Amino acid sequence: MTDEHWSLVYHQFRPELQGLREALCTLGNGYFATRGAFPEAHADKVHYPGTYLAGGYNRLETEIAGRVIENEDLVNFPNWLSLHFRIDGGDWFDLRDVDILDFHQELDLKAGLLTRRVRFRDASERTTSFVERRFVHLARSHVAGLQMEVCAEDWSGSLEFRSSIDGRVINEGVERYKRLASQHHRPVEMEQVDEETVYLKVRTLQSRLEVATAARTRVYCNGERIEPHRRLHEESGGMIGQVFDLEVAEGDEVGVEKVVSMFSSRDRAIAECGLAAKDELTDLPGFDELQRRHSLAWELLWRRFDIAMDVDNAKGERFHPALVLRLHVFHLVQTVSPNTKDLDAGVPARGWHGEAYRGHIFWDELFIFPLMNLRMPEITRSLLNYRYRRLDAARQAAREAGYRGAMFPWQSGSSGREESQVLHLNPESGRWLPDNTHLQYHVSADIAYNVWQYYQVTDDLEYLLFYGAEVILEVARFFASLTTYDETSERYEIHGVMGPDEYHDSYPNADEPGLDNNAYTNVMAVWVLTKALEVLDRLPELRYDELRDMLDLRPDEIDRWRDISHNMRLCFHDDGIVSQFEGYEELEEFAWDEYREKYDNIQRLDRILEAEGDTPNRYKASKQADVLMLFYLFSDEELAEIFERLGYGFDADIKQRNINYYLQRTSHGSTLSRVVHSWVTADCDRSQSWNLFLDALKSDISDIQGGTTPEGIHLGAMAGTVDLVQRSYAGIEIRGDDVLRFNPQLPDELARLHLDIRWRAHSLAVTISKDRLEISARQSSAKPIRIGFGGDVYRLEAGECREFRLKRT
Ligand code: BGC
Repeated sequence: MTDEHWSLVYHQFRPELQGLREALCTLGNGYFATRGAFPEAHADKVHYPGTYLAGGYNRLETEIAGRVIENEDLVNFPNWLSLHFRIDGGDWFDLRDVDILDFHQELDLKAGLLTRRVRFRDASERTTSFVERRFVHLARSHVAGLQMEVCAEDWSGSLEFRSSIDGRVINEGVERYKRLASQHHRPVEMEQVDEETVYLKVRTLQSRLEVATAARTRVYCNGERIEPHRRLHEESGGMIGQVFDLEVAEGDEVGVEKVVSMFSSRDRAIAECGLAAKDELTDLPGFDELQRRHSLAWELLWRRFDIAMDVDNAKGERFHPALVLRLHVFHLVQTVSPNTKDLDAGVPARGWHGEAYRGHIFWDELFIFPLMNLRMPEITRSLLNYRYRRLDAARQAAREAGYRGAMFPWQSGSSGREESQVLHLNPESGRWLPDNTHLQYHVSADIAYNVWQYYQVTDDLEYLLFYGAEVILEVARFFASLTTYDETSERYEIHGVMGPDEYHDSYPNADEPGLDNNAYTNVMAVWVLTKALEVLDRLPELRYDELRDMLDLRPDEIDRWRDISHNMRLCFHDDGIVSQFEGYEELEEFAWDEYREKYDNIQRLDRILEAEGDTPNRYKASKQADVLMLFYLFSDEELAEIFERLGYGFDADIKQRNINYYLQRTSHGSTLSRVVHSWVTADCDRSQSWNLFLDALKSDISDIQGGTTPEGIHLGAMAGTVDLVQRSYAGIEIRGDDVLRFNPQLPDELARLHLDIRWRAHSLAVTISKDRLEISARQSSAKPIRIGFGGDVYRLEAGECREFRLKRT
């Protein structure tokens, strides 16, 4: 591991960027996460403290536009950070009220530590400095710590602290949700446990989830533990803390350390969450020792997850790509980690970092799992189980919609019912509009794809037999029931859906939402049906019979699957472009240049056009990759096989033609879009791919959508960029034949790449430079594996290293 590019550093306090930094400096451990808000902050226009539990949801109803709508939110739980100080009874410290002499905020990715150093002069000309450190413990998932060391540089007097747990927080982190009900919990217990510990338990109103937080505060002066007199401080609405005064002399350094524990009523191996939260604190060491162990846990994790890049010409970049890539891995692991394995949580599109998209689980998993599959596949397995547990809900949804099999929701939360909002607000126009995104039925195929990918990478046949197969078969059944046969074209068709491109949800002037024969959905349906047939072939007799009887699978149904998988309809433009959906060709070309000139940022063209009384449904303009998703998910060979199975040609130029066509007609209104475009251009236009990759890296760190990252990171794009490096640039390919293939194609700017992956019980260190590929298997008792390179297959044993010469291209 190189020692550079491990820290995200800010040298100035910039109120207008605080929300962004809070999201980027969120600390989490896969069980809970806390935004990087200052401990002295309350929610206001600049700051937004937020603490979220993985899968901690609650539903509330609101009356909007004459209708009662219900939303399930990711709940903002009590703020454990709350720590305030003031000098000589003046105002509580706030960075906005003082003269800042020095400011340094650093997120140390290697150690999992957030530090802030501030030196300031107040209105009474006193100079004070402090250092604040915090962690959310990676090895002890219920524990977090905050330490503040304040130095009275040139004054003496009284220094008062207030350390509390603030349960008065509501969900108010997303401006456009502000009209919706937001008070999700009420305090149910509050007490001072002992001299140094306070405790608060809240309960959510609908899901009745109890969350207990206990906080222990210790005080030091010039390194020695002291016992100041403490006063209990309680405020109605669920705020409990302790206040203490100290007399300090010039040069004194006062340290306050707060160690907290957080448990919920859903946790396992506890009697009751309040008891657990209090018990946890009794034998916990101090901040420093806890932090040491926490940082060790990170160090161990990085041995599996680090991707180191040497980049030429990175000077012009505000943030080094190698740093950003690590930041992405960091946030992924903070969202889903080994601590997530025993939880019933999915992987949320926006991390547990903010309230946008309400912590819901979307198809974004598709972009996230490949990274986990090659590092800690057991985490993917637990995330797939989140879906498996909701298979019955998906069956019910299919039934209610008049279909068979399993129809997974576009947005999933606690129970697996559809959580997509019914109405959404266009902030540009102020209008509440119907939300038709639940028509993205492709999500069910994406889930089946994830199951299959997991199986391909891990060879975990038991998983396939006892969980995965059922998902794939039920999804296949769903798509078969969605399909209708058109006598004229003698093809099967799928009507009334949305593809990944959310700009198109209906035909211009149509009364009903939905589009016909979306290429992505149709191809994914064919893929699922084909895989379902393959799964049936692979099942051992006993399990085959069980599943056949359990699911009531009849031979004529299976015959129909086969027939559809050969005769699904795809639409093409006259010039050999795969039509995003039937009739796409008839839409008007969009005036891209005019709109780029008129608006600074046209990524959210849907909102702009709606505010103008128009709709993107009229234009050949996409929010994100749709047809091109096919070239992202499938290799050229796989796609050719599908097209040929359907009786359509797949000529040598088809990919390039479609890339050229759709790339010009996409606004990248989703951060996922650039990842896909960078990927599909990697083998034909490396420099374009690299530029798109750099843009994708900027999605969150530079908040390129202008205001979305403060509401939560974009985990799909984050993980997608890392996966792009590993599977596209490093060319790691898994075809399901037990061979791990390498076909590196480093962009010119990427001089060297190093990563560690896990494959069939081996830990492989992979180093790629311009002219060499080196794969080394660490010592272990794992059986030899097969490595593919340049059309040949080689054997690799534990402890062995293989080198291959790369041709410079
Ligand atoms: C994108 C979807 C994505 C969702 C959550 C939307 O803006 O269009 O593809 O699943 O965000 O990340």
